[in-house]
Amino acid sequence: MISEKEGRALIDRLAQTRTLTRSEWTQLIENRTPALADYLFRRAREIRIRYYGKEIYIRGLIEFTNYCRNDCYYCGIRKSNRSAVRYRLTKKQILSCCETGYRLGFRTFVLQGGEDAWFTDERMLGIISEIRRRWPDCAVTLSIGELSYESYRKFFEAGADRYLLRHETYDASHYARLHPESLSARHRRKCLLDLKEIGYQTGTGFMVGSPYQTAENLADDMLFIKKLNPQMVGIGPFIPHHDTPFADQPAGTLELTLFMLGLIRLLLPKVLLPATTALGTIAEDGREKGILAGANVVMPNLSPEQVRKNYMLYDNKLCTGDEAAESLKKLDARFRHIGYHIAVSRGDSLNT
Ligand code: 5AD
Repeated sequence: MISEKEGRALIDRLAQTRTLTRSEWTQLIENRTPALADYLFRRAREIRIRYYGKEIYIRGLIEFTNYCRNDCYYCGIRKSNRSAVRYRLTKKQILSCCETGYRLGFRTFVLQGGEDAWFTDERMLGIISEIRRRWPDCAVTLSIGELSYESYRKFFEAGADRYLLRHETYDASHYARLHPESLSARHRRKCLLDLKEIGYQTGTGFMVGSPYQTAENLADDMLFIKKLNPQMVGIGPFIPHHDTPFADQPAGTLELTLFMLGLIRLLLPKVLLPATTALGTIAEDGREKGILAGANVVMPNLSPEQVRKNYMLYDNKLCTGDEAAESLKKLDARFRHIGYHIAVSRGDSLNT
């Protein structure tokens, strides 16, 4: 046990030295209180405002395929989910999402999908280079899972700038409880190192409150993130999906997710930190609260209306309303309400 005062001292030291030991991380996470969280969020906002002012960066998310060869126990589009209605967007559809997005003010397109063999390197290269050619002032982010060094390199050379691949959890045995044997924490981390070496602006992250997760696991995640030093960190609460082995597991909480967001802002002051869709799904004002805890990015959905309901990673995932890219103005109004606003620029990481 540590006292409130000791908790504040740890937060102060984290803000100053940008690191803590494994046992300090664990203590701080285990002994958090609402008052300590308020203190953390105040410090996190200070730092976020120092580097990013009150701007919120936007990224247009294009969920272009929900076919996946993997069978992660938490994920609604896992291979074994026979009830998932599968779809793939054509190249033409993807480009038309970009066109709509560009008109709405997006300058970053995130191509996210399951690990779908139909999208061979050749097909992906065609899509990436065409986006590059038509929108040279935009950033192209890929989020398509574990691939070979060679594929990552080719995509980078074709013009992809950024890559998102959550490490999910650092601890190998925890990783093994969330994934089938074919996947490993080690290989996931190797992919992340490859991406960094090639020169991608890299994003990693984890789910908060995933089944069997302990405070020590979260401490290891923080140490790993420090070491990797990514440009972006995506975290959101685990939310059960009814057609997965984790259907009956409890969801992660808003409260712990916000606390982790605040800690990450102190750990990596300039990191791009999204207030994720999952955060907006567990609480109506989840994303606003995320911003107030130190987040500075949102990723509205640019996918065609008719497929959005099929990219269901977890139950009740937001895909309409203010979540949709078309309602950027409404989203902006929500943020203005808490004193922040959406920025229109590429929103490059200040880290690079
Ligand atoms: N709840 C919350 N997040 C999930 N993800 C996948 N399934 C779930 C779920 N049930 C997250 C994973 C993945 C990202 C694309 O979505 O962390 O990396």
